Amino acid sequence: MESYLIEGGHKLSGEVSITGAKNAVLGIIAAACLSDEVSTIENVPHIQDVYKFIEIIKRIGAKVQFNNNVLRIDPKGINQTDCSDQAYNFNKLRASYYLLGTFLGRFNGGKVPRPGGCAIGDRKINLHLDGFRQLGAKVDDNVMITVKSSGLKGGDILLEFPSVGATINLMIAASLAKGVTHISNAAKEPHIVDVANFLNRMGAKIRGAGTEDITITGVDKLHGTEYSVIPDQIETGTYMIAAAATESDIVIKNTIPIHMKSLIDVFKQMGIPVETNEDEIYVMAKRPFKAVQVSTAPYPGFPTDLQQPLAVLMILADGQSRIKENIFESRLGYLNELKKIGAKAKIYDDKKTATIDGVNELNGDEVELITPDLRAGAALVIAALVSDGTTRIKDIHYIDRGYEDFEEKLNKLGAKVARLDDEVV
Ligand code: UD1
Repeated sequence: MESYLIEGGHKLSGEVSITGAKNAVLGIIAAACLSDEVSTIENVPHIQDVYKFIEIIKRIGAKVQFNNNVLRIDPKGINQTDCSDQAYNFNKLRASYYLLGTFLGRFNGGKVPRPGGCAIGDRKINLHLDGFRQLGAKVDDNVMITVKSSGLKGGDILLEFPSVGATINLMIAASLAKGVTHISNAAKEPHIVDVANFLNRMGAKIRGAGTEDITITGVDKLHGTEYSVIPDQIETGTYMIAAAATESDIVIKNTIPIHMKSLIDVFKQMGIPVETNEDEIYVMAKRPFKAVQVSTAPYPGFPTDLQQPLAVLMILADGQSRIKENIFESRLGYLNELKKIGAKAKIYDDKKTATIDGVNELNGDEVELITPDLRAGAALVIAALVSDGTTRIKDIHYIDRGYEDFEEKLNKLGAKVARLDDEVV
């Protein structure tokens, strides 16, 4: 196990470059496996979730090379669709459920364990499975999930909630179905559009991605392609918040500012100046920050994945801020960790609402914080950057799931973050 040791109180300056979007690339890897030809994917982040997914597709027969940020997938040899054995490590990664869509589309079925991922709520997958049923698949959802069909057929799917995962999984499966599939109330996140663009480059016929109505006209075969993944919206937001919290001026490069509109709007309400051009964001922050009320919502609303990092700015704001988490049932527990270094926060009985009273400073000297999940980990790191003293953050393997070179990028900006091996005393 590893920890971060963070010496707080240093301002950040300079530039940071954003890498490809985790939640896009995980869908794209599964989509690439729908074909039996090679795909080459650029701007792929070196993060644990990508490594784990690569291990899984290698175990089922794909050949993979990952050098620099270029991922080459040769899916021709995939021959294993029963992945119920623990050795396949399916339950170590939430996005492994995208292979259900791949198995149905390419092989008419498969068997996988229930997905893993961050413990931030119940995280059901009924919408994925009901959608597969609408495409004519038989689904058995017990300890293992088994999907089977004698050839998927297009169908009309109305998602009860615009689930990111279900929208991607159903686009993957329906790309090789016979006939036309309509997904209504689809998720509209930028990574949905990216996965659809990738599938279209493979020869799929997907229209409307990025709106709530997606139409997929099934094709007989998909081919390999070359593609570059969009920049990560959540990595961008994390550096914007880190810069603001440390009252710093930084430039965030290789990003798509329009994807950050909801966060930029919150920055404006808090009185934090932000400027953008085509692919860069400049943050120029100085306290005081105004308190805000933020409710998470599907895109283009405020992303749940930035709710936790944003809380650190609320802690540093004047007055009382409020969070309403509308996507996941239990994504506020990290506030109890932040209380250890001086945050004043109250989580309400519904577990989805919290109020945060601003404080002048945080003191994390010689405090140990435990990372509960990926984005909460980013929040703890940002809080430690602004705290007095040296704070230890444990269980950073969660952070490694989703941030490429996190401490290197922060240190290049002027932070003092060291990675420690807990086994070495
Ligand atoms: C994805 C992202 C995650 C992000 C989330 C919301 C990946 C690998 N993960 O997660 O980082 O926080 O989108 O932007 O891309 N739900 C159901 N039934 C379903 C599916 C979802 O009830 O079949 C519920 C979930 O329990 C949750 C909500 O819908 O409360 C949102 O889930 P969803 O949008 O599917 O998120 P994920 O795909 O799990």
